[in-house]
Amino acid sequence: MSHLDHTPSTPGKFKIDKSPYYSRTRWHSSVAKLTLWSSLFVTFLFLFFYRSPSSSSNNPPSSDPSRRYLASATWGGAAWEKRVRTSARIRSRNGFSVLVTGAAGFVGTHVSSALKRRGDGVLGIDNFNDYYDPTLKRARQALLERGGVFIVEGDINDVALLKKLFDIVPFTHVMHLAAQAGVRYAMQNPGSYVHSNIAGFVSLLEVCKDADPQPAIVWASSSSVYGLNTKVPFSEKDRTDQPASLYAATKKAGEEIAHTYNHIYGLSLTGLRFFTVYGPWGRPDMAYFFFTKDILKGKSIPIFEAANHGTVARDFTYIDDIVKGCLGSLDTAEKSTGSGGKKKRPAQLRVFNLGNTSPVPVTDLVSILERLLKVKAKRNVMKLPRNGDVPYTHANISYAQKEFGYKATTDLQTGLKKFVRWYLSYYGDKKAVAR
Ligand SMILES: NC(=O)c1ccc[n+]([C@@H]2O[C@H](COP(=O)([O-])OP(=O)(O)OC[C@H]3O[C@@H](n4cnc5c(N)ncnc54)[C@H](O)[C@@H]3O)[C@@H](O)[C@H]2O)c1
Repeated sequence: MSHLDHTPSTPGKFKIDKSPYYSRTRWHSSVAKLTLWSSLFVTFLFLFFYRSPSSSSNNPPSSDPSRRYLASATWGGAAWEKRVRTSARIRSRNGFSVLVTGAAGFVGTHVSSALKRRGDGVLGIDNFNDYYDPTLKRARQALLERGGVFIVEGDINDVALLKKLFDIVPFTHVMHLAAQAGVRYAMQNPGSYVHSNIAGFVSLLEVCKDADPQPAIVWASSSSVYGLNTKVPFSEKDRTDQPASLYAATKKAGEEIAHTYNHIYGLSLTGLRFFTVYGPWGRPDMAYFFFTKDILKGKSIPIFEAANHGTVARDFTYIDDIVKGCLGSLDTAEKSTGSGGKKKRPAQLRVFNLGNTSPVPVTDLVSILERLLKVKAKRNVMKLPRNGDVPYTHANISYAQKEFGYKATTDLQTGLKKFVRWYLSYYGDKKAVAR
């Protein structure tokens, strides 16, 4: 048994033997303790400043539910600022400088590359969270990088980072696409919807309202705001107060938040209600995508039926049509009217449906995929579960048509052909076993 076993728990009550050996050990042990506490203190200081939101090497706050892939995200420094500036540089007459949030996402990638191609300056921001396979987001990032678009790795809740970006670039527009998407996942991780779709949107608007000049903002709402609305086709004037999922509720909240920032601060805001977007580089959590994967793997796929064997149908909209709608909205967005956080006069506030206007039953989607893949699907017909999905969506797009000539031109057969061609080339031989 060592002598330490006899040490009482209350220091000072132990009568010590003051031998020279003991003094030396005591001196050594004091130095050791001092060293230990100093290193702990220095480590604490380092962690505090390194992770502090105002540092130039930032991570989002620890409550961030989507930070799993952010541990190594850093920003700042001369080289980084140069990349930001170069990416956002306008290369055409009357071009815009656009901050695209969610740029590594499906829609974000397509919109960013379309803007860049026509000569606008584009800077992306994305937190590369792992809601779906982040390697797909990295592949999209690589694609954009080849086209000259830099994606800053960061979270839209990181106000210090957003402010820094506006300090470097006087963005004329923000295309806000970052969000926690997906209807069913909300039952698993509700906090991620509040984090990205509500808190993140507010952080972004706070920075935009203080920016000088204030940018015009176009952002993605969703057709899901129509929820349990039964009047078809869905028009912007229809009721949107019956969301069927938390996702829909956060998008609806976004529309109300947009109204507030427009009303108080004069921010020009345009919300876009996308209807089931599909296409190359799409989202693996969406039915057309995982049906393709599962059909190729020989796995059965769930086909939902509405009440009384009713058809479930979607107004599937091809990505190129959505991109046209985004660009049309940016091009017709008026300037914000505030400065120094104050509104000078009323600013533009709009909401548009962007859909295809021809709903297709999900069973028909599967038949098209079967033909394109030359594989028979194993259909598992089941009742539509009550987890947020709605039986039917159908867009009335006359408002967007009137304002900027919006018209979808790709039918589902043509669009899926392009998707399948991309899918097979992207996943190559791995297609039958891909995730
Ligand atoms: N694809 C559709 O069918 C559809 C339909 C209606 C609405 N929308 C909306 O359109 C937008 C784009 O959708 P998508 O299909 O491209 O989705 P996506 O998930 O592919 O893209 C969203 C991107 O935002 C990023 N992101 C999420 N939270 C973030 C945060 N807090 N900070 C920084 N980045 C963050 C993600 O990493 C992702 O890359 C979303 O707002 C979505 O809700 C999409």
